[in-house]
Amino acid sequence: MKLDVFPQILAPNLAFAVGMVLWAFLLGLCGAEYVHHEDYMDGDFFGKWDFISGDDPTHGFVDYVTAEKAVAENLVRTTSNGIFIGVDNRSRVAGGSRGRMSVRLESIQRYNDGLFIISLEHAPIGCGSWPAFWMFGEDENNVWPEWGEFDIMEWIHEEESVSTTLHKKENCTQKHLYPGWHMKAKWNKGKWPSVDASDCFVLADGQWTNQGCSQRGMHGSIGEGFNAAGGGTYAAEWDPIAGHMRVWIWQAGQEPEDVINKRPNPELWGQPEFYFSLKDDCPPTHFKNMKLVFDITFCGDLGEPTFRDHCGRKGFGSKQRTYTSCVDMVRKEFSAFDKTYWSVQGLDVYRRADAGSLSGLLEGRATEKDSVDERQCRSEHANQLQKRIKELESILFMKEAELKELYALLNQAETPDSPPGHGRRPSSVAF
Ligand code: BGC
Repeated sequence: MKLDVFPQILAPNLAFAVGMVLWAFLLGLCGAEYVHHEDYMDGDFFGKWDFISGDDPTHGFVDYVTAEKAVAENLVRTTSNGIFIGVDNRSRVAGGSRGRMSVRLESIQRYNDGLFIISLEHAPIGCGSWPAFWMFGEDENNVWPEWGEFDIMEWIHEEESVSTTLHKKENCTQKHLYPGWHMKAKWNKGKWPSVDASDCFVLADGQWTNQGCSQRGMHGSIGEGFNAAGGGTYAAEWDPIAGHMRVWIWQAGQEPEDVINKRPNPELWGQPEFYFSLKDDCPPTHFKNMKLVFDITFCGDLGEPTFRDHCGRKGFGSKQRTYTSCVDMVRKEFSAFDKTYWSVQGLDVYRRADAGSLSGLLEGRATEKDSVDERQCRSEHANQLQKRIKELESILFMKEAELKELYALLNQAETPDSPPGHGRRPSSVAF
């Protein structure tokens, strides 16, 4: 049901909008001004990426193919709707093959900061699959995780909530962050339910090997509901000057006007879904020279051990049989991958107007303050916030009507012996 997808919309009162304004004031009044840097959809999309055809470092049952083969096999193409990036869903994996055919695209461009906004009409889903849109840096002399890794969106099998994760060497902890305050997301759990995966060190005590600091987003942030609602937009901000990484997610059609107009201002977007601090406990110099990556692998380090829990009892194809291992299933059930594809409608990169100034990076916040006219910034910011509040108010107005209609329908559908209170509107929802 559509309303399940983005439950935060169900706070239809002004307090929400006012809260947003306060939040923006508290967490940095005059944010960075972003300028457009790159539009991946402009021109030859696939020419901007390397097709990495080596073995999957995460040990997936995957055959990452070259650009030529990917085109010949119809795994990638430009469509009337944008960009399609998929996997082989037509054949059983032949004996002796490395695995199911797929692609791993790494951007030729490397980044040291930026605001990355991706609009998806469809994100991959399917038992056995492990898709991700992420960033990492590496060269011959700086082996992963020396330059870090920022997984913007990652999930497995048929999950309906996305995870965002940082992976690093020692000395990058996020233990001081509070879910519900810094971000909407919760921490993923380490080896035990009492341990939050809030240390980005890939070998942190109490966490799974290479788990990193990992946050889990809201239900509907990925998966069947996300696709059914027409997808959505993710904005990932990596700002070493302000000292944070933040991610926001909007359901398709609910992107703010400044995002649609390609003049994004993250200070208008309220509490982020995901937040990581790049300050004393994890200095910004930890993350460097990162590329963007799209990949879809199968099974592997994360997909295989979770296969039984996620997909074990599920029948696949007409035979309705279950499989003993993830690899066994991925090898045979090609039709399970009909929805294992990305449909990308937009991918833009923005940079802070003052990014690239080394002094800015070294001197941090002081430089940021000196470089702007505080008063002008305040009044522009206030104007933008007012516009955004109006935008949210009109969304809330529409949603209120939709919600009332649904409650009316639910009340009609109620049987006489329904439990008391069932179908009435929750007291927290004010009209
Ligand atoms: C993997 C590493 C790999 C790195 C870069 C990580 O997610 O766990 O093994 O070297 O990505 O590909």
